[in-house]
Amino acid sequence: MRAAYVSSLQPDAPLSGLTVGELPFSVPDGWVPVAVRASSLNQHDIWSLRGVGLPADRLPMILGCDAAGVDPDGRAVLVYPVVQDKADPRGYSLFSERHPGTLAEQVAAPRENLLPIPDGVSFAEAACLPTAWLTAYHMLVTRGRAADAGAILVQGAGGGVATAAVAIGVALGKKVYATSREQWKRDRISELGAVAVEPGGRLPERVDVVIESVGEPTFEHSMKCAAPGARIVVCGATGGHLARVDLRRVFAMQLEILGSSMGTPGELGELLEMCASGRIRPVIDSRYPFAEAAKAFARLSSGELFGKVVLEH
Ligand SMILES: NC(=O)c1ccc[n+]([C@@H]2O[C@H](COP(=O)([O-])OP(=O)(O)OC[C@H]3O[C@@H](n4cnc5c(N)ncnc54)[C@H](OP(=O)(O)O)[C@@H]3O)[C@@H](O)[C@H]2O)c1
Repeated sequence: MRAAYVSSLQPDAPLSGLTVGELPFSVPDGWVPVAVRASSLNQHDIWSLRGVGLPADRLPMILGCDAAGVDPDGRAVLVYPVVQDKADPRGYSLFSERHPGTLAEQVAAPRENLLPIPDGVSFAEAACLPTAWLTAYHMLVTRGRAADAGAILVQGAGGGVATAAVAIGVALGKKVYATSREQWKRDRISELGAVAVEPGGRLPERVDVVIESVGEPTFEHSMKCAAPGARIVVCGATGGHLARVDLRRVFAMQLEILGSSMGTPGELGELLEMCASGRIRPVIDSRYPFAEAAKAFARLSSGELFGKVVLEH
């Protein structure tokens, strides 16, 4: 079958290790095949091409964590991207880490990982949810306890996780501030209902939850914007992972710095319901036919995107 896969690890030029071509397809015992209709790209795919979290002995590895498609019973399904995995130190892995990923004509998945897609949600919209949107939801609702929050700050708001956090925060009725390095992205953030702020800019109030996926370039600002008792929730470090932390601020303000990874199937179901009811709409930057996967990757790594890049079959 046609697949987009890592053929060689390239730490400094990740896209040069991407191949779109034929690979065999097999279905492990107890798993089911899903005919992929739409998938979406994540920064995770770029890390994989760089060799972060993907050793050379697992190549060729099909990329992709996210897929929406059709199961053997003809149902429209969304694939929950987390697979229980005793071989992994975290106790789980994502598609494309140990098991072939979703950027292919078909993906094999445990049956319990398939969620029905409700009416009114397209394959392309559903395919945005499993990694970026689920992570944002778990960060805000579960780790960040947004229900108790007044205001929220989202750093680097052009990205997949960040646009999701903005949209979900607004849908939850919260005041959302969001930074981005680029004016056109700050304009788009405002259209989503957030107050756009320049990187490092002063906010009119302190916030109770900060959504951090950028890391080193924004972390000091995240700390300074935090209200007493605030939760700074970290899921990634696109801009560098060695952030400086002023511990005096942590204890004096009783701040919580919380790590966050992915989310639960129940949370993914809640996101699907929020989509179906029209409370949120995934922010899609661009859609490409699968044959143009390489162009889609170039778009993802350009830094010029706002929201999710979707591949369609
Ligand atoms: N732990 C988990 O479960 C989990 C799940 C999903 C993602 N992640 C991680 O979260 C991060 C974001 O993922 P994504 O898929 O949303 O990525 P993405 O769509 O590529 O977004 C990255 C965003 O980060 C900002 N950024 C990048 N470099 C920056 C820098 N040097 N200074 C300031 N801002 C910078 C940019 O925002 P502006 O251009 O708007 O400034 C950019 O839009 C990645 O590191 C990813 O690995 C973790």
